[in-house]
Amino acid sequence: MIERTLFSSEHLVGFLEEKDPIKIQELLTSAYKVKVDNIGSKVYLRGLIELSNICTKNCYYCGIRHANSNVLRYELSEEQVLGAAMFAWKSNYGSLVLQAGERTGTNYIKKVTKLVKKIKELSNGELGITLSLGEQSKEVFQEWFDAGAHRYLLRIETSNPNLYSKIHPNNKDHSWERRLQALINLKEVGYQTGTGVMIGLPYQTSQDLANDLLFMKEFGIHMVGMGPYLKHSETPLGQLVIGNQQLAGGNQSLEISLKMVALLRLLMPKINIAATTAMQVIDPEGRDKAVLAGANIIMPNMTISEVRKNYQIYENKPGIKDDAAISKSKLEANLSKNGIEIGWSQWGDSKAFE
Ligand code: 5AD
Ligand code: SF4
Repeated sequence: MIERTLFSSEHLVGFLEEKDPIKIQELLTSAYKVKVDNIGSKVYLRGLIELSNICTKNCYYCGIRHANSNVLRYELSEEQVLGAAMFAWKSNYGSLVLQAGERTGTNYIKKVTKLVKKIKELSNGELGITLSLGEQSKEVFQEWFDAGAHRYLLRIETSNPNLYSKIHPNNKDHSWERRLQALINLKEVGYQTGTGVMIGLPYQTSQDLANDLLFMKEFGIHMVGMGPYLKHSETPLGQLVIGNQQLAGGNQSLEISLKMVALLRLLMPKINIAATTAMQVIDPEGRDKAVLAGANIIMPNMTISEVRKNYQIYENKPGIKDDAAISKSKLEANLSKNGIEIGWSQWGDSKAFE
């Protein structure tokens, strides 16, 4: 069994670079045990609704970046969103996530506020609501919190400001400091706050990844979703042919992602950790493998099938032809094959959140 107190920066780098399959398996198994001992073995679901692929930003890695004119932009109607929320509630999902590209503007803000209130109403307050709508002002975070959202996901993408500046345009809309401040604001407003990073980015080192883990620990994050960086050929980063490109979407990046999940679980036994869709892109059982390495959250896609193909932040996103019911049955079949039990109708809040 791996001693938890040994996790200095050097140890973390050592684990991330470990090649011996037996030692790697030992790490993953230890993390699974720590999860079961601290928060139990169940996996909690958050039905994912991709509200809109309209985005004002231009992150160099993302397929739906503003400058990609090949993307057919959409915005779900209130009826469509409430229909999906009803599906989540009737399916006993417990929680849902509203995700979209980043936008501001009063009409948009008010629309989200109204959606959150209506989802709370239609589910008698039973559905937990997580938002993943990018950087907003503290006032907007507060407005959505007061409307009934109680968790927020905002990835820091990398804890290294220098690496951040290489994968984003250099302007005030893409500032690492601003991203960090937004995370601080979310916590102050009272959200269960989630962050995450991409793994296997060009220019990224094992030391960067070790620092990412230490950043999350030091910040006292409540939830984490992280996964492999995957190439999208209509993006500046996807067209770049230097750096550790062999990692982008390769098996090696799944292995490092699983190590990252396991190490984070050992560092932060009580937080919620997502088994992300990006892991499933590399390996159909990637999400299940992440659960067996310490993750406890899965976000099945519930976006209506007509628009799914338009939300391709990376290529080969799985299930773009499926609808919510098919995603649900595929997921259940996979999990039960691996003996993983679901916490139906429960919020599955982060035990690290007091
Ligand atoms: N590969 C992997 N993850 C990506 N994201 C965006 N583009 C990619 C990509 N090409 C992730 C970012 C963002 C989240 C919504 O999706 O981490 O925060
Ligand atoms: Fe927009 Fe998010 Fe994609 Fe950046 S990662 S371009 S903010 S959708």
